[in-house]
Amino acid sequence: MHFTINKNYTKLQGSYLFAAIGKKIARFQEENPDVEIIRLGIGDVTQPIAPAILTAMHKAVDEMGHAETFRGYAPEQGYEFLRDVIAEKDFRERGCDISADEIFISDGAKCDSGNLQEILGPGNTIAVCDPVYPVYVDANVMAGRTGSFDMATGKFGGVVYMPCLEGNGFLPELPAERADIIYLCFPNNPTGEAITKAELQKWVDHANQNGSLIIFDAAYEAYIREEGIPHSIYECEGARTCAIEMRSFSKKAGFTGVRLGFSVIPKELRADGESLNALWLRRQGTKYNGTPYIVQRAGEAVYSEEGSVQVAAQIDRYMENAALIRNGLIDAGYQAFGGVNSPYIWMKTPHGMPSWEFFDFLLTHAGVVGTPGAGFGPSGEGYFRLTAFGTYENSIKALEKIRKI
Ligand code: MLT
Repeated sequence: MHFTINKNYTKLQGSYLFAAIGKKIARFQEENPDVEIIRLGIGDVTQPIAPAILTAMHKAVDEMGHAETFRGYAPEQGYEFLRDVIAEKDFRERGCDISADEIFISDGAKCDSGNLQEILGPGNTIAVCDPVYPVYVDANVMAGRTGSFDMATGKFGGVVYMPCLEGNGFLPELPAERADIIYLCFPNNPTGEAITKAELQKWVDHANQNGSLIIFDAAYEAYIREEGIPHSIYECEGARTCAIEMRSFSKKAGFTGVRLGFSVIPKELRADGESLNALWLRRQGTKYNGTPYIVQRAGEAVYSEEGSVQVAAQIDRYMENAALIRNGLIDAGYQAFGGVNSPYIWMKTPHGMPSWEFFDFLLTHAGVVGTPGAGFGPSGEGYFRLTAFGTYENSIKALEKIRKI
């Protein structure tokens, strides 16, 4: 007799995509210590925390040093001061009927997108875009909701993959095969393409008609530039009965190292006679210690008059990089997509080169790191993702180097 492991973990492929890339870069740098590496791989921000947010954090730190203002455990769902401002600014000001008690503060959308599946039945089927942010799939593999990985197709058994390719404008088509849980991320990671409100409405209608749940990742909504692109799924009619939405402060306000995000679970969202809002509250109360007070005060400052102006200026700068990279690639004869309502540029590899081969080629010949499209799913093969989160100088440098190869 001996204890056993969760065998579902053995179905996972190698290491997590960005960990695998990190190791490859470290090895290359060790072997080539003089080569300057420009990192446009993982979507990690480079601009420092905005001054108004820093001031709020400093003030919160000082409060922790005095008995009268000291705070211990944070409320399981998050402080009301933050949930109130989010409900107002992110939702009600956009005409979305979301209240503070439907918002759950967390330490980021990655954790929420991995954890939310816990309150759903083990037998649910899932549908994902292909290519896809790997966390949605891996978290369900770990939970036993998939079959094993098929090396030949690059897919897990039992998962509905919805190809997002040039031919369909990188937008998934409604699945012919019904799925219980549908993961959508718009503006999309990794393709950088956005969805119109009319298109998203079709998904909401589909989910309501078929008794499916949409888990909508809106981590990149702050990068939307064009009219007609929804910032929230709750802009669509009927979304309160079929959708959970996740948001992140990582890309919106440079919090990748600070850690803050939230999920929205409307009260009407029910299955098997139970409220998902109540189940998630129960789950968070048991397994989550609450996001630190200092971080939640930082989050509140993102919505302040000064904070919102400063954060918008940072996003503008990243979007300058996005335009520079996208247009520069197109000028140089590459096919490039995304980058208009999103910080990601999705380029076609030259001469149909496999994406991991292009990764090595670009690193070796140009010292530029991107993310191989195949790492996001089989339909990502032949594509490559660059981020706009570098500095302006590095974005220019990377572009020049890519042009020369
Ligand atoms: C990415 O590069 O896809 C993101 O940075 C990953 C994340 O936000 O977890």
